[in-house]
Amino acid sequence: MTTHALSALRVMQDAPVIPVIVLNDVAHAVPMARALLAGGIRMLEVTLRTPQALACIEAIAREVPEAAVGAGTVRSRADAQAAARAGARFAVSPGYTPAVGQACRDAGLALLPGVATGSEIMLAQEDGFTELKFFPAMQAGGPAMLKAWSGPFFDVKFCPTGGVTPQNAADFLALPNVVCVGGSWLVPADALVSGDWARITRLAAETRALARAA
Ligand code: 3PG
Repeated sequence: MTTHALSALRVMQDAPVIPVIVLNDVAHAVPMARALLAGGIRMLEVTLRTPQALACIEAIAREVPEAAVGAGTVRSRADAQAAARAGARFAVSPGYTPAVGQACRDAGLALLPGVATGSEIMLAQEDGFTELKFFPAMQAGGPAMLKAWSGPFFDVKFCPTGGVTPQNAADFLALPNVVCVGGSWLVPADALVSGDWARITRLAAETRALARAA
């Protein structure tokens, strides 16, 4: 297993899209990860939203070392610690608290903290985080919000997530303060249930064609 520490920027730069993954069955984890890898996506965000999530992270970390598995929906110190123990290399949170920031640092996890307001950006920046997830991106103002933030927050890079689709991803990626986007469309629930790994590979491969400004 590759265990060198990742930075949040490295996580964001690897591909135009970070897949936001919800897994209900541990048996899906490894073939799903291999399908995304085959499509050129290595940074995999497995959300801590199901009882199986940590076991899925563990399986991917063990069986698919070419990928870097991260934990999404990290909302507490305990989430961060559990994710690191399971083998996660990075964490994504829907909001930001200093406790989550410190827990990720202590656990050696790169963190993409979620923000939706200027005050939240300032709080995350105060703690040294300059690569942030803009969540929920479409609902909180979309590309226009990021354009507005590029003035005062000229030194922050974003990963917009929430309501991002294959149709609007290019609008986000054209912005100089956007490095990548996050989205759940790469891993549809029905493709997992039917074991349609080829579809997941195809959806991943399609995202590689998205151009990035940053
Ligand atoms: C989430 O946390 O569910 C992500 O933001 C994914 O959102 P999406 O389903 O709109 O891509």
